[in-house]
Amino acid sequence: MASLAALTFVALGFPALAAKPHVLFILADDYGWGNMGVHRRDGGSSPEEMQGKAEVQTPNIDALIDNGVLLDRHYTYKICSPTRSSIQSGRLAVHVNPINSAVTSQNYDDPVSGYAGIPRNMTGIAEKLRDAGYRTHLVGKWDAGMATPEHTPKGRGYDTWYGYYQHANDYWAKSTVFFATGEVDACLNKMKDISMHNATYSGPVRDAISLSAACKDDEEADPSCYEEYLFKERVLDIIQNHDVKDPMFLFYSFHLIHTPLQVPKAWLHKIDDMVKAAGGKPFDDQNRRLYAAMTLYMDAAIGEAVDALKKKDPGPRVTPHDNV
Ligand SMILES: *[C@@H]1O[C@H](CO)[C@@H](O)[C@H](O)[C@H]1NC(C)=O
Ligand SMILES: *[C@@H]1O[C@H](CO)[C@@H](O)[C@H](O)[C@H]1NC(C)=O
Repeated sequence: MASLAALTFVALGFPALAAKPHVLFILADDYGWGNMGVHRRDGGSSPEEMQGKAEVQTPNIDALIDNGVLLDRHYTYKICSPTRSSIQSGRLAVHVNPINSAVTSQNYDDPVSGYAGIPRNMTGIAEKLRDAGYRTHLVGKWDAGMATPEHTPKGRGYDTWYGYYQHANDYWAKSTVFFATGEVDACLNKMKDISMHNATYSGPVRDAISLSAACKDDEEADPSCYEEYLFKERVLDIIQNHDVKDPMFLFYSFHLIHTPLQVPKAWLHKIDDMVKAAGGKPFDDQNRRLYAAMTLYMDAAIGEAVDALKKKDPGPRVTPHDNV
């Protein structure tokens, strides 16, 4: 399944005394160029352009760009795992991991580089930052290897992680269904892909209501049945509980807006109302409607995370970098 990590934001909050800035690194997945509000501003006034403008609602992302820097000549690899392996290792994807291989693929003759993801002998950005005194956290999609503990976020320098290993999972059931990963894996796509580690625990996420019978019976039973809600809560929790005497590196890695196209119904109604208020016609395509609602969900979550960081560290300079 083609998966493009298309958008990166970096928000830097500068603590009053410490020289090292807090870094909130936000990565969006499969985010279309035309689905960003700022790219809709100069599109002309044809009916199609006006409809596009009405359907694309990203006020928080737009505000970050308006107050920061938009790097619109930044290039990234065209699919998920190479892009993520590249970001984590600081090397060009072609030197790390050029394909989205199945997580179970393995070359027994090469135990260092013969697994999916980043070769074991490479150093990651979180290891470097941890050595420099940072508290390091990753929330959300990993997709840079899981063959051994060394390949996982724990082995790559993250103090804590809460998220999933593979290209995608089901936003509700957290299982690696075929329509999410595009492949049949060794577990016949039955694996629940939602795990975590912290200082005292490493293993599956067990305490999430999202895996409860209530959510299984009714996806809308609780907001936290939806995976992105769990991620957002975790991000806010990390920021709120961070001790600002240390610098923080928080990598907020969205599943959004990668397939499967799934979003709580309330967000479909929300985007419908916003399109109408902006003078647009109702969506004529359900997939575009889902995608627009998922984009809106991500934008709102980014707004909450950036607000939390500003509140934590009053008077920070927030500098977003965006690459498409
Ligand atoms: C990592 O190991 C591979 C063999 O699997 C070797 O070819 C490569 O040079 C090593 N790279 C680093 C950065 O040590
Ligand atoms: C680690 O996570 C487990 C499981 O959620 C939790 O019970 C425990 O309190 C956490 N430990 C720390 C140090 O946060």
